[in-house]
Amino acid sequence: MKPAGFKPGNDSLFKDSMKPILPVFFHLLGLVILTIACSKNDNPAPDACTGANFNINSTKTESVGGANNGTITILEPRGDTISYKLNSGGYQSSWYFTNLAPGDYVVTIKNQKGCTDTVQLTILSYGPKYAVVKEIIVGFCGPCHRNGGMDGGKNFDSDANIVNSWDRIKARAVDNIPSQMPALPNSPLTNVDKQKITDWVNAGHRQSD
Ligand code: HEC
Repeated sequence: MKPAGFKPGNDSLFKDSMKPILPVFFHLLGLVILTIACSKNDNPAPDACTGANFNINSTKTESVGGANNGTITILEPRGDTISYKLNSGGYQSSWYFTNLAPGDYVVTIKNQKGCTDTVQLTILSYGPKYAVVKEIIVGFCGPCHRNGGMDGGKNFDSDANIVNSWDRIKARAVDNIPSQMPALPNSPLTNVDKQKITDWVNAGHRQSD
């Protein structure tokens, strides 16, 4: 059975009148296929940096007392072939940036292949009295109240939490009311450190004091 629509004597795909131009047609078709195939080969090699993410590990110190003395330290990655730049500055071999004003920063890190990755950091503005209180809290109030610790319902990871708890910090860590903090069996703060908390409280107990 011939498929419906094919009349006898006319079942060739091409009419006789088309036959002289068929070689030209197939020649052109071949050219088109070749062009498409070759243009695929002309695509640039895949970018070696695509998806290149570094393990970036950084630390910072805040700007204290309006002195624009914040710092950023890139701890990882480091190496002879790695360079670093701050915002739109030039690349440098040092992983240490100093004299930073409070604000947002982007550090771009470049490896030997020219691949880059970035890390964003914010340098905060601390008053000098708050800065030393923050050091005391970081040094003596963990792990119970730091890195997610919530003993007694108090966590001191954020500056806002510390500032909001100024009166309880003074009561517990300076005046020992109702009992000493850091909690026993830890040692109490030294008188020098207690005085630093008192000085901050008397100055107004803000982040800017
Ligand atoms: C070894 C663990 C530990 C350390 C270190 C520690 N605390 Fe506590 N803290 C606790 C526990 C447990 C409670 C809940 C029991 C209580 O209130 O006595 C608490 C509760 C508190 C409270 C909330 C209760 C209140 O009285 O308002 C404050 C504020 C506080 N601590 C401040 C501090 C400060 C400031 C430091 C560091 C100078 C510190 N703590 C260090 C264990 C600790």
